[in-house]
Amino acid sequence: MSFVIKSTAERAQVWQQQFARHLPDIPFRVWPDIGDPAEVEYLAAWVPPDNLVERFPNLKILFSVGAGIDQFDLAAIPPHIQIVRMIETSLTEGMVAYVQFAVRAIQRDMLRYVSQQRTHVWQAHSVRAASAFRVGVMGLGQLGVPVACVLRDMGYVTQGWARSAREIDGVRCFAGEAEQAEFIASTDILVCLLPLTEQTAGILNRDLFARLPRGASLVQCGRGRHLVTDDLIAALDEGQLSAAILDVTDPEPLPADHPLWDRPDVLITPHIASATPTESGGMAIVNNIRRYLNGETPVGLVNRKMGY
Ligand code: GLV
Repeated sequence: MSFVIKSTAERAQVWQQQFARHLPDIPFRVWPDIGDPAEVEYLAAWVPPDNLVERFPNLKILFSVGAGIDQFDLAAIPPHIQIVRMIETSLTEGMVAYVQFAVRAIQRDMLRYVSQQRTHVWQAHSVRAASAFRVGVMGLGQLGVPVACVLRDMGYVTQGWARSAREIDGVRCFAGEAEQAEFIASTDILVCLLPLTEQTAGILNRDLFARLPRGASLVQCGRGRHLVTDDLIAALDEGQLSAAILDVTDPEPLPADHPLWDRPDVLITPHIASATPTESGGMAIVNNIRRYLNGETPVGLVNRKMGY
């Protein structure tokens, strides 16, 4: 049996040391130097190589080095291969910190002040309290739940929406299609932390924006393809939305001549809200292989039917 990493050289180097120390019986290979392909039982990658099954006939687990697995072609991965995504404390903390910043920036009018600074305008706007904002988190999973709890503790009226029913202390939870309309209609700052699936692609569109209260804002930390960019631009132009903070775009990188860049009502960051830390990310995989070898379920095992 062997483990193959297909990722950055830095990650490969650190993980190799961690494997040598914690899983010394599993040979560690760095793509493309994979040794005997028939030996490969574990593969960690952001984007795995093509023809996965022909290449690695004995592959048992495919690990995503990130939180998402939408970059995998699930249909091309046979069901006997377990797919495991990255669930790790610092990755979660990074996302919580980013959303805290983004929601606070909207509450305190920071996009407006940045644009005033550009034109040397010294003008104060009245401050609205956190409790005057209803923040709605779409996606109540590994990232969405901690994010919602922190927003609640910051004093925002916090609610969440997910595919299935959830219960979170002090956070009003809505579930499924049936309750989406009520959730959207009562959300002033919409935070997208959904996984990208066939059902959620394009969910942030004109129709949804029209159902938000007028002047609502968007914090987009999901995947670029959740958002129909032209619909966002139209909603901002019409004043239906007042601001958007985007950490993900479609495509990435956002082309230099894209109209989103120069908008004063949009803040763009280049997919940096959160990333897998090298050290603890490696240990998350080590611990998951140990779990697997003990007959336990790896943390972050993907439910293929749900697609996350
Ligand atoms: C980044 O977007 C990740 O999935 O970790």
